[in-house]
Amino acid sequence: MRLRDVAAAIAALATLGFVNASGADAIREFLDRHWRRPLAPQGPPPARFSPLEASLQPEACGTCHPAQFADWKTSLHSKSMGPGVTGQLVEMLQSDPGSALACFACHAPLAEQAPRVADGARSNPLYNDTLVAKGLVCAGCHVRGHQRFGPPRRDGSLTPAAPSETLPHNGVTRAPAFLRSEFCQSCHQFTPDGFALNGKLLENTYNEWKASRFAREGVQCQDCHMPDRRHLWRGIHDPEMVRLGLTIDAGAGASRYRPGEIVSVTLTVENTRVGHAFPTYVTPRVVLSAELVDQTGQVVDGSREEKVISREVTLDLEREIADTRLLPGKKALLHYRRRVDRSGLRARLSVVVYPDEFYTRFFESLLEQGGGRGEAQIREALAATRRSLFTVFEREIPLT
Ligand code: HEC
Ligand code: HEC
Ligand code: HEC
Ligand code: HEC
Ligand code: HEC
Repeated sequence: MRLRDVAAAIAALATLGFVNASGADAIREFLDRHWRRPLAPQGPPPARFSPLEASLQPEACGTCHPAQFADWKTSLHSKSMGPGVTGQLVEMLQSDPGSALACFACHAPLAEQAPRVADGARSNPLYNDTLVAKGLVCAGCHVRGHQRFGPPRRDGSLTPAAPSETLPHNGVTRAPAFLRSEFCQSCHQFTPDGFALNGKLLENTYNEWKASRFAREGVQCQDCHMPDRRHLWRGIHDPEMVRLGLTIDAGAGASRYRPGEIVSVTLTVENTRVGHAFPTYVTPRVVLSAELVDQTGQVVDGSREEKVISREVTLDLEREIADTRLLPGKKALLHYRRRVDRSGLRARLSVVVYPDEFYTRFFESLLEQGGGRGEAQIREALAATRRSLFTVFEREIPLT
């Protein structure tokens, strides 16, 4: 390489570094503004907006964006003001309105969704009670001051296709921040001074991702949770999504055992494609199990062994009991060894996910203390947490 090329290469590198740094700064600046809490009221819509364009209701967006609306409807973002949240808020809005409003910052973030203002001191004249029930609506991510914000076009371009005054809702301001994990950070990551247990923040998804190979390879939250820009946000509640993230293997040490011998069976769960800890929150519990089953399909008494993957905390959030979650690339192993006493036995191995295990215990204890005026909703939420379990893996291995 000639000296001039080296100099040019260094100059190019420097520019690249400069572009990256200032690009990152621009993204940071955009997001600080976009997610400054509490979000500012939208204000009056531009005079030329039709009522449909001025509406913040997701159904209004859905008349022109039916695909995103249909996806969003099935997502947990549309259910973020479900009975588990609202059941707790009924009493809290009376007893401790300041803390209650903090919940809205993530669960229903628009100014028009907050029942009270000024740390809960006054009722909110802009409050829209039909909007609040819809949770994290389109406008919560896409609309500020009635202006639409969205990702660059799929070809990467940022410029409008036509003069913006001629487009519905005056077109879109396109921001690369929509393509970045940092966009999700403001709700899925506590700030460094946020609530922590055992030195670890209670919500730490962004940091877990940042430390993973996925961040190094440029794989963002959206690449896994919004593939092809779909608005589904599948996570721990979806068996297919969970299967996509894991590699699960089961096998026996030998193909045949005689009565009296010790069988050796292994079940491994590896976090191969989850972009953060599996699972990332304290709420799910994943149970690996092995047991013996006889010829009639009965489980042999006392033969069951389990291994749990979770971050287990006490209900009052005072203490972390155990943290066996799998960071990306890590594996859990259940090694099952047992003397078999008869022929015709099989080993049954399974992995069962309880996405809302913490909430089951939490709602039970709330109801024991008296759910107050939110009781009916908390009962409904409790029933839902008991139904949400599913089996991601099951295999029976003949042993004898
Ligand atoms: C009257 C129909 C109409 C309504 C109502 C409407 N939009 Fe749009 N929207 C459009 C059209 C047409 C475009 C394409 C504009 C362009 O290409 O720049 C668009 C573009 C967008 C984009 C950028 C899409 C892309 O291709 O990158 C976003 C984001 C968006 N709208 C969000 C919303 C949200 C959120 C709402 C509800 C608060 C909404 N829109 C309501 C018609 C509508
Ligand atoms: C305004 C706050 C907010 C933003 C921004 C946000 N989320 Fe969420 N997200 C939530 C809340 C609240 C829930 C829980 C909803 C519920 O179950 O009540 C949630 C739930 C989810 C779930 C479902 C988890 C499960 O239990 O299965 C996934 C996946 C998810 N979000 C991914 C993302 C991604 C990816 C982004 C960025 C593109 C994002 N979120 C941006 C607030 C937010
Ligand atoms: C920093 C953002 C944030 C704040 C603030 C927040 N949450 Fe959440 N909440 C989440 C996310 C993200 C999830 C999804 C976690 C999961 O799936 O395990 C969630 C899940 C929940 C769930 C379980 C899902 C459901 O809909 O039943 C309940 C209940 C809940 N939050 C209640 C509250 C309450 C009450 C407050 C206020 C005291 C609050 N949250 C404050 C982000 C937040
Ligand atoms: C949690 C935040 C969030 C919510 C809620 C949300 N979006 Fe989006 N939306 C995004 C992000 C992030 C992208 C860019 C995703 C990507 O490119 O990977 C996007 C992209 C889009 C696009 C461009 C799609 C394309 O194919 O180019 C449209 C249109 C859109 N959203 C409309 C909506 C509508 C309508 C709703 C409500 C029914 C909605 N969004 C709800 C975050 C959100
Ligand atoms: C490489 C793909 C990948 C990336 C990148 C990724 N996720 Fe996930 N995520 C998954 C898979 C698979 C699951 C289901 C297994 C699980 O729950 O851990 C999941 C689950 C979740 C859940 C469900 C709650 C829980 O306890 O697990 C939330 C919330 C979530 N992701 C948010 C995010 C956010 C926010 C980012 C970016 C900071 C992100 N994810 C990046 C693949 C990914």
